[in-house]
Amino acid sequence: MNVFTTRKSLNEALASLKEAKKSVGFVPTMGALHEGHLALVKRALSESDTVVVSIFVNPTQFNNMQDLDKYPRMLQADVDLLNSIGEVIVFAPTVEEVYPENDTYTPLDLEGIDNVMEGEFRPGHFQGVVHVVRNLFQIVQPNQAYFGLKDFQQVAVIRLLTKKYNFPIQIIACPTLRETNGLAMSSRNLRLTEKEREDALIIIQTLKYIQSLKATKTPKEAKELAMEYFSNGKLRLEYLEIVNGANLKSLDNEWDEYSVVCLAAFCGAVRLIDNLELV
Ligand code: PAJ
Repeated sequence: MNVFTTRKSLNEALASLKEAKKSVGFVPTMGALHEGHLALVKRALSESDTVVVSIFVNPTQFNNMQDLDKYPRMLQADVDLLNSIGEVIVFAPTVEEVYPENDTYTPLDLEGIDNVMEGEFRPGHFQGVVHVVRNLFQIVQPNQAYFGLKDFQQVAVIRLLTKKYNFPIQIIACPTLRETNGLAMSSRNLRLTEKEREDALIIIQTLKYIQSLKATKTPKEAKELAMEYFSNGKLRLEYLEIVNGANLKSLDNEWDEYSVVCLAAFCGAVRLIDNLELV
């Protein structure tokens, strides 16, 4: 497998492909790959001539230095996993490669979608995501890029940055992969004990509980009941919001055609997020 660590070597490898008008699919990741990531890569492989997977633990999107330090790093295992599913180009750059001295980035106006939910509890997080994805898009220049709906708000932010920077890149959102018990797959799950993995199931149970209340309750009532339900579990809730899936505005008295419930909570020391599109 080809693993490139500099933008120069990656660009050299991609130049001839681009000249031959081969399409490039791009899957940005922070590594510690699991089936959820691999689903994005498989989709990219099925829709592109060449696939680039970046593995880069981006310091600028962590607002908690402990979280950054503890983020799992396992490049060789990631490369082996990718090898097992197909031929991809891995881009595993250093911080200096992603953020060169002549970087022209200035914070992007995200029209408020960065102030709610994840944005409210992780100040600066989405500016960090925008910065790294903008720089990676400029380096890789893909035709299409794949993101998981597990990070629902992130997908909204990526769509907005793509529009604002006029990147000619199609953004493809892919469904959340879950363990058979319903726990959303996440690199952070590696840090959970077996007991905590059980405790974490209250997340999907609460999301499904809200789904079951939709026919008879308003969003506000459903949220109140769900917060009570959640409080019987072991996790510490950070937020639970029922929002319009397009503009992320909170729903109170009426459901929207596109209603999504989003939740973040601490399971022990590990922060988990999940969401469910309500049908
Ligand atoms: P990371 O958390 O590594 O996730 C990389 C991609 O995999 C994201 O698009 C994420 O939504 C997707 N993903 C994670 N778990 C998933 C699951 N269970 N099912 C489906 N997709 C899943 O998200 C990031 O990295 C970073 O913010 C990044 C975009 C790379 C910028 O640094």
